[in-house]
Parts: sequence; structure tokens; C-alpha cells
Amino acid sequence: MREQKHLTPYGNKPMVTPIVSAVNYEYVSFEILRQITDGEIDGYTYHRDDNPTVRMVEKKIAEMEKAQDCVICTSGMAALTMIFLTYLKAGDNLLTFHDVYGANYKVSLILEKFGVDVTWLNAYDQDKVADAVKDNTTMIFCETPSNPLVKVLDIEYLRKQANRVGARLVVDNTFATPYHQLPLTMGADLVVHSATKGLGGHNDLMAGAICCSTKEYYDELWFTRQAIGTTLDPFPASLLERGLKTFDIRAAKMAENAMVIAEFLADHPKVTKIYYPGLKSDPGYETACKQMTNGFGGMLAFDVGQTQDDAKKFVEKLKLIYHAVSLGCTETLVCLPVLTTMLYLPEERRTMFDVRNNTVRLSAGIEDAQALIDDLKQALE
Ligand SMILES: Cc1ncc(COP(=O)(O)O)c(C=O)c1O
Repeated sequence: MREQKHLTPYGNKPMVTPIVSAVNYEYVSFEILRQITDGEIDGYTYHRDDNPTVRMVEKKIAEMEKAQDCVICTSGMAALTMIFLTYLKAGDNLLTFHDVYGANYKVSLILEKFGVDVTWLNAYDQDKVADAVKDNTTMIFCETPSNPLVKVLDIEYLRKQANRVGARLVVDNTFATPYHQLPLTMGADLVVHSATKGLGGHNDLMAGAICCSTKEYYDELWFTRQAIGTTLDPFPASLLERGLKTFDIRAAKMAENAMVIAEFLADHPKVTKIYYPGLKSDPGYETACKQMTNGFGGMLAFDVGQTQDDAKKFVEKLKLIYHAVSLGCTETLVCLPVLTTMLYLPEERRTMFDVRNNTVRLSAGIEDAQALIDDLKQALE
């Protein structure tokens, strides 16, 4: 029998973190209030500051990413915007890559409004990073693998470039997940997740996570969240905590399925191009072998035929696989990035991304691999 160390209002110790809604707290004494606000004890004063259910999930995600601590917020985009707001100011240069999730482009327009200079490079032009880093570059931000073309950037190389000018390195680890990649151990300052995706894993919540390499980063980002109110509600936090329980098993199966699918598609005559860093032919393969473990993740992309109609017909014929955005969840999903995640990008920027009108992005789920292959096969006929 387990030793019962903590008596709780429930009489026994709950096996899962209870959902504590956004309640107001009565201050027990000025002394307790001081201890909480000075960070001497864990305690709660107001939901926008902190919430016990959310805090438990933060600690779990921090452990998974080998972080000092983690700040959870309302979405992946909220997490990224909190980082930009906290660490960029007018006159700073943000160095980033075309190959990042589409909404980052919209955020960059807002940053430019506030006087931030944004430099965009192609992910596979890493040799240009050294020249692009300027004296006023204060942040390098990348996704690896990237959305949607799963391009792999060398995190240690970017760290070296950031060090030349004392810039921060921020890595969006949504595609890789901590099962395959731990950017903080390779020199990233901050790691971001759309926890809506693989960490949550069931297509039923929205959340963002910022994993911090130091306590100072945690304090600064906590300050921003408290100021602007991007605190997550406890219900999605509870769903997220539940998702984390099966995270490793799901991530392993997704990567296994993605590899089987990539190998099948690579040999299919209707597939004119395939993007998956687990294939030896992929330009990201070597770097992926260096910095990813346990496989190469559940995300891949491929071009069907020659035209958008070819890709649309393929998607419409799928029976098991869903036509939907989002990723990293139990069900296998496909979408056409130019019609979804990149829809609001100006035409010339879409061209810079190298994403074609017939490119399909696929997020492998945890279904039986053969059933997925059968579905892809019949849809490509
Ligand atoms: C790599 C990546 N980062 C960030 C985001 C934004 O996450 P959210 O939808 O939770 O705001 C997404 C969304 O698809 C994504 O794919």
C-alpha cells in the first residue's frame, strides 16, 4: 500500500491532479501573501497569476524537455508572441526562417509595426546564417523539423551563430516533440510547443508551452503572462496532463507509422516529391541523425501528381485518414498547406517557402500501419 503523505480536502490523495477552476483566493494572512508573492512558498492568489492544475502540468513538461521550468499559456501562438514581446524591442533584428508555421508571418507584421527588423532565410540556406547575423540580432528563431516541409536545422550551429552577437536562440519543438529532440541540451535558450499538438495529442485542447533553460527566463515570461493574461484555463490543462501520460507511447507509434508511410510514398509513381528527414535521400537526414533520437517524428509532406487538382482528388478519396489541420494527434491527418496553414501568406512569400500547390502535409496517428497504407494506396489509384 502507498504511504499517504498528503492529507487533502478529499480525505485521500487524488491520483490525478484535480481541476481547480479559476477561483478567487481568500488571503489567509498578510504573511502568507508575502511568502507567496516573494516566491518563498507555492501558493495561489489569483488565476491570472497561477493555477494549481496548470502549475502541475508545467512541472511535468519542464521535466520532459530537461528545462529549469515551463510557462504554459493559451496556445502555441500565444507562447511565441509572449517570447517576442518579452525579448524584442524597436531596433532589434529577429533572424528567422521562411519555414515556420504560417501565423508567425502575421506576428512578424505586428513586430515590424513596433520597429523590429525581421530577416527571413530559407531553412536549407544555413550557410547564409553567418552573414545574416547582424550586430543588432537579438534573437534567432527556428522550427526544426519545420512546418510544413519538415526541414531540419542544425541547433548547435545556430547556437554558435547566436553566440557571436549574444542573441537568444528559440526553437519550436512542436514537430519533433521531446520524445525525439531536446533542444535545450543543444544550446537553445527557450523551447516552444504548440501543446495543442503532440503533447495534448487528442485533437481536443489548445495550449502553448515555453520551456526555459534558466529560472530567470521563467520569471520573465511568467511576468509577461501575468501582465497580459494569457493564462491557460484549468480544464485544457487537465486534458493536457492526461495526454502526457501516453505521450511516449503515442510518439513512438507515430514515428513508426510515419517511417512506413514515407517509405511507401517514396516508391509510389504518383508521388512526385517526398519530404521526411528519416529517409536517407532527404537533405535533412544527416542533421536529423545527429540531433534527433528514437526516430524522426510523425510529420511528413509529399507532392501528389503535378497539380492542385491531383492533390485534392487524392485527399477526397481518403477513407480512414482525416482531412484536417493540426497535427501530432491520435488520428492521421492530411491537409494542403497552401489552402490552410499558409492561406493568408502573400503569393511571393508562399513561393519563398518552396511549398507547392500539390504539396500534402501528413501527420501520422497511432492507427494500424497497414490500414493507413491501404487507405493511401486506394486514394492514389
Ligand atoms: C510548429 C507550430 N508551432 C506553433 C503553432 C501554433 O500553435 P497553436 O495552434 O496552438 O497556436 C503551430 C500550429 O499549427 C505549429 O504547427
